[in-house]
Amino acid sequence: MTAPVMATAAPADGPSDPSVARFLQRLGAALSQGQCEQVLLVAYQGGRPDIDALGTSLQRLMVRPVVLKGQPHLSLVYRFPTKDITKNLPEAEAISALADCLCTGAFRNAHLFTPTEEVQLAVSKKGKASLRVGRRAATPAQPTAAPVQHNREKHRLLALSRPFLRELGVTDAQGQLIPAMSRKWKQINKFIEVLGAALERSALAQQPAIHVVDFGSGKGYLTFAVHDWLTHTLQRQARVTGVELRDELVQLCQRVIDTLHLQGMAYEQGDVRHYHPEALDVMIALHACDTATDHAIHLGIRAGAQIILCSPCCHKEVRPQLLSPHPLRPLLKHGIHQAQEAEMLTDGLRALLLEAAGYDTQVFEFISLEHTNKNKMILAVKRPQARDLGEVAAQIHDLKSFYGVQQQCLEALLRADGLLPA
Ligand SMILES: C[S@@+](CC[C@H](N)C(=O)[O-])C[C@H]1O[C@@H](n2cnc3c(N)ncnc32)[C@H](O)[C@@H]1O
Repeated sequence: MTAPVMATAAPADGPSDPSVARFLQRLGAALSQGQCEQVLLVAYQGGRPDIDALGTSLQRLMVRPVVLKGQPHLSLVYRFPTKDITKNLPEAEAISALADCLCTGAFRNAHLFTPTEEVQLAVSKKGKASLRVGRRAATPAQPTAAPVQHNREKHRLLALSRPFLRELGVTDAQGQLIPAMSRKWKQINKFIEVLGAALERSALAQQPAIHVVDFGSGKGYLTFAVHDWLTHTLQRQARVTGVELRDELVQLCQRVIDTLHLQGMAYEQGDVRHYHPEALDVMIALHACDTATDHAIHLGIRAGAQIILCSPCCHKEVRPQLLSPHPLRPLLKHGIHQAQEAEMLTDGLRALLLEAAGYDTQVFEFISLEHTNKNKMILAVKRPQARDLGEVAAQIHDLKSFYGVQQQCLEALLRADGLLPA
């Protein structure tokens, strides 16, 4: 399993079968060019202690490139009838393991998928290998209504070979991660992981078509990632709209949509405070400044969003109203503590207001962006049944009274709509 790896992805002593050698060469090339989408190893013949130790009746081994801690890895998913076992190995180690499996004939068939080719390696019962290279139709950007995948597959990370990453400057022309973008790449994957988990426990879990709006979408890293993940990975019919105040960013993202001929993806110039969408399923607002987050949440609630995901930024509204009630006065006399308290109170109230509006809400740490140290996320997933408002309303009232807060934007918007009792 840990034999040294050559650039051609063959073990040190090299495969004796030329077809196996060619398959491994193509794998090595596809990985180094960022073109490897997936490797599938099927028809396991048994007899490898490292695999047999994981379980019986291995159905397939699915391999995808991923980046972990900024380093290229391969994610190996061993699929058994009742479980998946995932091993993420550094790329060189993983290639060596795969080469070893193929050289020993442990799998009868191996498939390498790139955006343009499918390379098939078949090993006969007599151990004779043959290689076939087929052209693939262009990767479908258009959504299909394929059935929802198995739950575990939803958490698959995005592949670095996805074209939108190159267009947005996350990867270079060879599909390699640009070092300065490793933090952004990590954030994109973490975001997809959070969204995937929320999707699974929401009413959208089995819904084939999903409408997402991302407010304050900026350069669109997450907007494009969500679209790609929904359409390419989950094979859902996704409509993803980025709404952004700055026209130059809208133009930039529209060019990417046009270049990649993306369907189900749009970018609009607009202000979240005045935007009136039709019904939507997922509302995203990451780092929308100050009360723009309140407007986005309000809009998501009104538009019937099943999932609301926001990462608030700048908590200006509440801070000047904040009293320093006993015994907090000695703590809150420090400006930094006032800012922290205002942030906690604002986001705590937002979470309670979302609860009051019928959502299960979590507040947790998220990976910060490079241009801000804000790293909080509010995730709200709509509950199937409404719950009694009394307790939540009392908590909101008590907190506001304690701190002397008169005005909170989201609360005012919900009350004006009659979504909260007056
Ligand atoms: C800090 S950036 C975040 C970009 C992106 N959401 C992300 O997390 O990578 C905030 C973006 O929100 C936009 N923005 C600010 N106020 C807005 C508003 N009222 N309506 C729409 N977009 C807004 C800004 O122009 C900026 O591009």
